[in-house]
Amino acid sequence: MAKTHITMKVNGTEVEGLVEPRTLLVHFIRENLQMTGTHIGCETTHCGACTVDIDGMSIKSCTMFAVQAEGSDVTTIEGMANADGSLSALQEGFRMMHGLQCGFCTPGMILRAHRLLKENPSPTEAEIRMGISGNICRCTGYQNIVKAIQYAAAKINGTQFQEAAE
Ligand code: FES
Ligand code: FES
Repeated sequence: MAKTHITMKVNGTEVEGLVEPRTLLVHFIRENLQMTGTHIGCETTHCGACTVDIDGMSIKSCTMFAVQAEGSDVTTIEGMANADGSLSALQEGFRMMHGLQCGFCTPGMILRAHRLLKENPSPTEAEIRMGISGNICRCTGYQNIVKAIQYAAAKINGTQFQEAAE
């Protein structure tokens, strides 16, 4: 099949590649760019393990063709750490609050939480749960993911961390 030349910005760096029109963005990210933090957990657009940030939106990259991301600005989990290599507030929150176990959902969960906190910098517990409802986790039971996002929100806002009620 004829291939198309695409360019986009990924984690601040211009990248390019030759892809078939049918190539899913998640496969372009994982196989062409060798950024394997973005995961695939389903084939029905439910799990959100493939979530990346594209032009200010949380996008399930299994449900977008790479050619559709032409010219866009993409952030993956590999781009989430601070410039000095330290963990971002969300990454730190997931570690501090034990918001991961196997870690398979975590890249997508963090990318979704990243956009959620831009959309709503001080979400309630219910808003966090609704806000990550496109991301499935089989390990944590979600409770500590909620705490991790609350931790990150407090750190970003410079406020006191309020744990979700148990
Ligand atoms: S891999 Fe499950 S939603 Fe994309
Ligand atoms: S930590 Fe295992 S799926 Fe979420």
